[in-house]
Amino acid sequence: MPDDNAVPELASLASYADAARIGYPVEENVRRLLRYQWTERRLMRDLLSHLTAEPIWEAKCGYALHQWQDAEHVDRLRRRISEMRHPVPPLDESPDAVLDALLEEALRSSDAVELLAGSYAVVREALAGAYREHLATTNPLVDHPTRRILRSALADHEEALAWSEAALAALTRHDPAAAARALAWQNHLRAYLDAAGGIAGPALEDPAAPPPPRALAPFAPDFHPRRDARFTGQYAFEFPPHVIYNDPRVPADERNLALLCKRTLEMDVPEMMASIMIERSDAPWEFHYDFSRQLWDETRHAMMGTVALTARGVDWTRIPLNVGFALRLNLHATPLERQTMLYAIEQSLMPGETGKRFEFHTAEDAADPLSAHFHDYDWADEVLHAHIGRRWLKREGIGTEQAMERTQAIHERTWAALDRYRSDQPAEDWWDGLVRRVLGRPSALRPEQRGDLRILAE
Ligand SMILES: [Fe+2]
Ligand SMILES: [Fe+2]
Ligand SMILES: [Fe+2]
Repeated sequence: MPDDNAVPELASLASYADAARIGYPVEENVRRLLRYQWTERRLMRDLLSHLTAEPIWEAKCGYALHQWQDAEHVDRLRRRISEMRHPVPPLDESPDAVLDALLEEALRSSDAVELLAGSYAVVREALAGAYREHLATTNPLVDHPTRRILRSALADHEEALAWSEAALAALTRHDPAAAARALAWQNHLRAYLDAAGGIAGPALEDPAAPPPPRALAPFAPDFHPRRDARFTGQYAFEFPPHVIYNDPRVPADERNLALLCKRTLEMDVPEMMASIMIERSDAPWEFHYDFSRQLWDETRHAMMGTVALTARGVDWTRIPLNVGFALRLNLHATPLERQTMLYAIEQSLMPGETGKRFEFHTAEDAADPLSAHFHDYDWADEVLHAHIGRRWLKREGIGTEQAMERTQAIHERTWAALDRYRSDQPAEDWWDGLVRRVLGRPSALRPEQRGDLRILAE
């Protein structure tokens, strides 16, 4: 009986009666955690495999957030498993072929409708259900470290599921064919989920045979970046803001506007990084953990750009946000070359006179406090990314100087590769039009004064 005059018992984890309940033994706990860890990792892979070619901008934002949250869950689950079992059971392979059959199927969604209906509403939903059951069953005192991990993971999943439900409703509400496809895909995956005995398992002794699989061959993700119908100029690869923002002939307010466009274009970094992460499945978990965080940061930077432009009344979907950076690297460079170029670019942003410090001061000089606030954090994140890039290239025996050298050749070769895609050129000088609309005067530079736009930037 709680006593109002006493310090709460058992650090408020549970009552004496609740803490006296017998929960999962360690063996069963670890068996379940191994399946959760693997499912989280495969959910992350689902999102990364589809982010680049997914045209809907807002879907990319959700995928980027959730793949990072999943990476956080994977990391904590791995640590918890290793706390409970020595030697640590294998963490980088599937704990169960029947569970993997479900996850392989879920990976085969053909578009956002199926991904939201399947990967989210079937697999992630079932994972959240398994966490609820685990939290209700395991002993709150002896297994507190697991409970703490699952509670916070469950909160993430519930937010992700609320987002995906709203997204799926938006995509199917006025499209009965899409709604029917979503339902058929859910039924298909539920048969695989049932055969696996749910996410927690174990698989049924004699399950009903699920329908014939889509997963008949190794999965081949599509890394051609796409944008939805609101956007134009995807294949117009010269982007004036890349040279305007640091041209001394241009006043601070115009350079700041260029920075906000550059931030928005940073969506091309997650579109490129996803391919590195998928194609470097040989790399250790820590590699994927680091780059997962960076991918989410880059997406947030693009979102910061859209927020700042929206605050100024700019419809940023009208800016020709070309897909050249991810297109040339994903389809015309090796994963290690992509990694090298990404690091070289981030490293080039570190000198104070020209890099992120300069960008932050540009926003201040333009008397734009929101832009300065965003660039303050963009700067902090990019310092972290330079560290991540340096650490993982060093493992490949590539130092900073070598990376800078190699990048020039990768840049020239992949820029030339873009020629086969060129089309969709904006007819007018869109930059001058934007400057006139936002700042009420023409751009300080005419197109012929802007110089070479084939620069190394993201
Ligand atoms: Fe970036
Ligand atoms: Fe950034
Ligand atoms: Fe970065």
